[in-house]
Amino acid sequence: MTTTRIDDIQLAYTDVGSGPPVVLIHGYPFNRSLWNEQLEALSSKYRVVAPDLRGFGESDSSEGPVTMSRMAQDVAQLMDQLEIPQAVIGGLSMGGYVVLAFCKQFPSRVRALLLADTRAQADTEEAKKTRAEQADKALSEGMASIADAMLPKLLTPDTVSKRPEVVKRIRDMMLKTKPQGAAGALLGMAQREDQTEFISSIKVPALIVAGREDAITPPADSEAMHAKIAGSRLIVIENAGHVSNLEQTEQFNDALLAFLNSI
Ligand code: MLT
Repeated sequence: MTTTRIDDIQLAYTDVGSGPPVVLIHGYPFNRSLWNEQLEALSSKYRVVAPDLRGFGESDSSEGPVTMSRMAQDVAQLMDQLEIPQAVIGGLSMGGYVVLAFCKQFPSRVRALLLADTRAQADTEEAKKTRAEQADKALSEGMASIADAMLPKLLTPDTVSKRPEVVKRIRDMMLKTKPQGAAGALLGMAQREDQTEFISSIKVPALIVAGREDAITPPADSEAMHAKIAGSRLIVIENAGHVSNLEQTEQFNDALLAFLNSI
């Protein structure tokens, strides 16, 4: 495992391959192993860096809410340490929220974007309340109850019934997440800014990917981003839910590689 000091925490990351750099940011409540298949597919032509966000995987957690901006700063500092001035920055779901926060804070460091199964809107008041309840639940009951409640929303019914290995992989990632890390991210997601206006200022190439059956960030959220980001490319993947890179790996990788090869 490779870790580095970022301010108050040790941050774990994977850095493989060589070529133009691509940084991939996982969603909630996962870790960098979410991207294993993308690391494998990309690393013969690209340098791929995948961090465990603050509070996730093998990275340390910190006290209190962890905002998307804080996570974006961690990524920028990691890039500084790895001497990567600019990269393609991609994220899935919460990783996409971090990508948008990154674009806002560090626009010159973004070569292009991948926004997978994510959205630009902030949380509604009701969603914020649910985040606070979930944060309490993670801290008082641990991650098993969070995992059980989330699983059916993350994957298509077909994947849940026919692909136990995918279900297990997602569940194991969730169970490995530290309750403090999950709670910090939940409270941080609740505080995130609405980026729906900001995204129309994005001028770099953007690939937007959505699972057709995504119940958490439905394709309509991706269509809305596609309409606002000039020149963006939208791919809707059939038979995929919220974790499209794991449910339809080949299609996801083909779309990502075609995009990277075209920019
Ligand atoms: C994620 O997959 O990162 C989360 O489900 C995003 C969210 O809860 O908004």
